[in-house]
Amino acid sequence: MIAGVGTQLLRALHWRQYTLTTELETAIAAAHAAGEVVRRGFGQAQRVRYKGPVDLVTEYDEESERIITGMLRDTFPTYGFLAEEGGITTGDDDARWIIDPIDGTTNFAHGFPFFAISIALQKAGELVLGVVYNPVLEELFVAERGAGATLNGERIHTSATTELMRALLVSGFPYDHADLPAALELWNRFATLSQGQRRTGAAALDCCYVACGRFDAYYEEFVSPWDIAAGALIIAEAGGTVTDLQGSSLDLGVRGIVASNGALQPALIEVTAGQTE
Ligand code: IPD
Ligand code: CA
Ligand code: CA
Repeated sequence: MIAGVGTQLLRALHWRQYTLTTELETAIAAAHAAGEVVRRGFGQAQRVRYKGPVDLVTEYDEESERIITGMLRDTFPTYGFLAEEGGITTGDDDARWIIDPIDGTTNFAHGFPFFAISIALQKAGELVLGVVYNPVLEELFVAERGAGATLNGERIHTSATTELMRALLVSGFPYDHADLPAALELWNRFATLSQGQRRTGAAALDCCYVACGRFDAYYEEFVSPWDIAAGALIIAEAGGTVTDLQGSSLDLGVRGIVASNGALQPALIEVTAGQTE
């Protein structure tokens, strides 16, 4: 349905009320509030259920998402949601929050301290804000479209590495075992072409680590929008390049991502472009 002039005007007024600063402040407050609960739950006994044979959800994933969506809905009642546990909620505005309440759930459940809360805001199909918070290290990565990216308030930039053989890469593997051979094939190909590879188990942090130069590049064939939405904007705002496996601009609906400092992107795409999704 095409919105009438009155509806469009109302939407414009709504958008003027919610400045990006209010959105950013609220997203950061929500990430901190959820992060505090998740951090306190870390290492404690947890109720766990399974979404698939190895894809688990803890009570803290659900509690974190409840806290985040509650805080964001209170301040922005007309915005929609795409949240890992709760799915899609359509809002009145063409704006939605994309939320991973704990990215790195398997790490969290096993007592391995590498996980984060990830919150992005998408407006008219474009990512405009990204917040990723690691509550264990108390590292907060933030980006606003056109305003750069920061780690705990300090500007961050991608690395200066230009050769794949000098590059430290990071990737991840899918929960669906049917997709594993394809993911392992990419991993094997990069194994002999790069300085080394890591698998941390938290895609949002993988993205942020590329943004601040700890990793040179990140690729993964089977990701979901909530894994990478905030991280993709943070990389782009830190001077990096983010595409799909074919080298086309990232479409959150398509599952593959290749992200780097930019200089490495052609060499990475040469390898990933052969993968079919
Ligand atoms: C997973 C992690 C992992 C990646 C998977 C994701 P979750 O998210 O980000 O690193 O390899 O593709 O599903 O389940 O921990 O939120
Ligand atoms: Ca995730
Ligand atoms: Ca998750």
